Amino acid sequence: AVVSLPARRLGGQHVIVTSGPTHEPIDPVRYIANRSSGAQGAAIAAALRDLGARVSFVTGPAEVPPPEGVEVIAVETAREMREAVEAALPADAAVMAAAVADWHVANARPGKIKKDGTGKLPELEFAENPDILAWISQLPQGRPALVVGFAAETDDVLENATRKRKRKGCDWIVANDVSPATGIMGGVENAVTLISDEGAESWPRLSKGEVARRLAERIADALSLEGD
Ligand code: CTP
Ligand code: CA
Repeated sequence: AVVSLPARRLGGQHVIVTSGPTHEPIDPVRYIANRSSGAQGAAIAAALRDLGARVSFVTGPAEVPPPEGVEVIAVETAREMREAVEAALPADAAVMAAAVADWHVANARPGKIKKDGTGKLPELEFAENPDILAWISQLPQGRPALVVGFAAETDDVLENATRKRKRKGCDWIVANDVSPATGIMGGVENAVTLISDEGAESWPRLSKGEVARRLAERIADALSLEGD
């Protein structure tokens, strides 16, 4: 008899997941960063693992520990994250859940900046970080078959996210409204809309684990079509 195996749907597939914030040093004791617990990225990595994928989990300094059973590549800065993602290629899919700092401090100091007693304030110069999602989406060779980005927005969520998908060249964007009133930032639940070239599909408010499981199932569906 033919039996179907619903689990292990991603057996033999390699997926890169970025997660957490990046920290961009100002000096050895100070940094700038984005707010991110890393909870949604860790849940996605665990859900992909549960479907049998080999997961390269490239994580900034997150609050939530990485899941068991994935390859953890710990990084600090956006530039290190990009290098780690490149080193993890090739991959069948990439899910960029990290909250990457948009800028690093161009005049970061090798030694601690001291108050000099005169009240003179330090001046920080910023330089733009590499856009890891746009870079991987537009790789001329070795682009993962499926690239998924995130868009955490506070205003005009769907318009911004739809534009972001086009601009970056990724296949899907998982959009969410992170306005303080939603309580999503730092919480256990998420309310997302999945945007693809087929349009926008809003999911109900779910636990981050359930969002991750649904997304992993969708990724398995997409990669199985790809392999046909
Ligand atoms: N991203 C990335 N590298 C960056 C910035 C963002 O890989 N340097 C990825 C994030 O992981 C996420 C997606 O791009 O999957 C969208 O991030 P977001 O910060 O919303 O996009 P930005 O282009 O930085 O736009 P914004 O000005 O709204 O911050
Ligand atoms: Ca950004």
